[in-house]
Amino acid sequence: MRYPVDDRQPVEASKMGIKDYIKKLMRNHGLAVFRLPSGAEIYESDGLASMHDHSFLDDPRFRAAYQRGVAAGGNIAWHWRVHIGLWAARTAANLDGDFVECGVNRGFLSSAIMKYLEWDTLGKTFYLLDTFEGIDPNQTTEQVERERNTKHIEEGFYVTDLEAVKKNFAEWKNVKLIKGVVPDTLSEIDSEKLVYLHIDMNHAAPEVAALRMLWPRMAKAGIVLLDDYAYFGYRPQKEAMDALGQELGFAVASLPTGQGLIIRT
Ligand SMILES: C[S@@+](CC[C@H](N)C(=O)[O-])C[C@H]1O[C@@H](n2cnc3c(N)ncnc32)[C@H](O)[C@@H]1O
Repeated sequence: MRYPVDDRQPVEASKMGIKDYIKKLMRNHGLAVFRLPSGAEIYESDGLASMHDHSFLDDPRFRAAYQRGVAAGGNIAWHWRVHIGLWAARTAANLDGDFVECGVNRGFLSSAIMKYLEWDTLGKTFYLLDTFEGIDPNQTTEQVERERNTKHIEEGFYVTDLEAVKKNFAEWKNVKLIKGVVPDTLSEIDSEKLVYLHIDMNHAAPEVAALRMLWPRMAKAGIVLLDDYAYFGYRPQKEAMDALGQELGFAVASLPTGQGLIIRT
């Protein structure tokens, strides 16, 4: 069974009320029903449905940043994830240190952040690491991770044209694109103090290796954002990060967006 959020014990079909029975039937067909208080507006995208406040969608600064992300990476409708990324970046921007993203692709989130923070005014460097050709198949034996990679390359979701990526980031000066396989390329990050680390390589091995190697360079109160920690279908990443947390002494907040959030203490 799944985890009952309301602490109810699972009920046998024969003892179910009609409402629960209908809900169960619908769930079996991949549909969900929610009771909405009157006046509630629902956000529904990217595997997340919520009636809670999402007025960030109307914030002109958010909208401009999001549109810059779309210009870089196409519209993948992940507003709430981008909202969290912008919050993390804005918070980390108050600290002394640099930014890193492992898994950049076309640069959706990083472009949105750079637009949002008027990047070149900050005096920080943004290190952007990617193979720019999908995963290194030697890094995973997980069938699901390999198949996802093949699909993303075939469908053109993963960029394989480094020149296009360079063109996207040409707008900013304080940015360093690093092409190659993480963790091999981490040595090219020549900053000793990091305050923002976004990890989004869609498979566990390089993600864990990156965090293990960069953790000592994370400044106090620095933010690590894991894109897929709690995302549906990405369980190996959660398990691997939890094991690393045990080893290094951090805990990951599981966000309803599918992300994971760590603060370096
Ligand atoms: C989901 S995409 C990243 C999306 C990006 N964060 C954005 O904002 O659009 C995952 C990226 O990880 C890259 N990647 C996968 N394994 C890698 C590795 N070992 N080293 C570097 N990049 C890797 C892929 O090439 C792909 O571009």
